[in-house]
Amino acid sequence: MSTQGQQFAFYDLHPPMDDITAEVRSGMLESPKKLSPKFFYDERGSQLFEAITRLDAYYPTRTELSLFDAYLEEITQTIGYHSCVIEYGSGSTLKIRKLLQALSPSAYVPIDISKDFLLTSARALAEDFPALDVFPVCADFSQSIALPPQTDGMHRVGFFPGSSIGNFEPESAREFLARVAGTLGAGGHLLIGVDCKKDTKTLELAYNDPEGVTAQFNLNALVHLNRVLKTDFDPEAFAHEAHYNESSGCIQMFLRSLVDQRVDVCGERIHFGAGELLHTENSYKFAPVEFGRLAASAGFDIQKRWLDSRGYFGLYLLRAR
Ligand code: AVJ
Repeated sequence: MSTQGQQFAFYDLHPPMDDITAEVRSGMLESPKKLSPKFFYDERGSQLFEAITRLDAYYPTRTELSLFDAYLEEITQTIGYHSCVIEYGSGSTLKIRKLLQALSPSAYVPIDISKDFLLTSARALAEDFPALDVFPVCADFSQSIALPPQTDGMHRVGFFPGSSIGNFEPESAREFLARVAGTLGAGGHLLIGVDCKKDTKTLELAYNDPEGVTAQFNLNALVHLNRVLKTDFDPEAFAHEAHYNESSGCIQMFLRSLVDQRVDVCGERIHFGAGELLHTENSYKFAPVEFGRLAASAGFDIQKRWLDSRGYFGLYLLRAR
């Protein structure tokens, strides 16, 4: 694998199973019941998400890609070469490939909770970019993460595409960004994609695609839990729902129990009434001025900002103060 001294090292900071069990169980005891969206991303979930990004209804990915294609040269001129690129949640490898091609960084640190998907894509990238050192880190990126020591002293460029920032509650988003600013260090860059507020119809269609892929993606969280925590959810006894909550500016996804049922969650019998909701995801949308305020309050200056012609999606190049 190592060509011309290329380094490849894997860091496993995956949270211990006991923590995961406790987190899932406490969510089931809340009212309304809730499950973190990170449980979408086992191997099948990551594949389903990739399928979502190709749906006609799901505009964010292709809009962000078009911004990339249009402005990658300008981005590169602003950031410069030979940096260390840190990707928070290594999803679609198409975007990172474009970025690595343009920036020619010296090191790449993909951080993801889904270990198999992370390793497979990190190995493929290492092979295709033989001059690039690759240090995959399996971790929950909402927690604080120590970067591999090999990257000390390099100019750091965080990459957080796809509007994944929308999964955080607003206060947690600020804390997360402030932590990233600290990790990057003063002068470090963050290239971040953020979905804009827009009409309810467009938003709701993007999370209720006619092909039903988003429904499968949502239900797969239960299949994932059954495998890793030995729960006994019946995915057929739940249905996908997604609504835009205009007052909070976020898409909310749920699994609605179709029957009155009990589920074994790590030794606890959890009751779901017929029609009861399990909340699985919030996806906040940000008007450009709102995101500007958020970034500023977390210790970043906006160096550049690009929007598509419809104003659907924003790409921001931030610099840590
Ligand atoms: C990966 C969080 C950006 O919120 O649009 C897509 C996840 N959920 N369809 C989003 C998702 C349902 C996605 N993010």
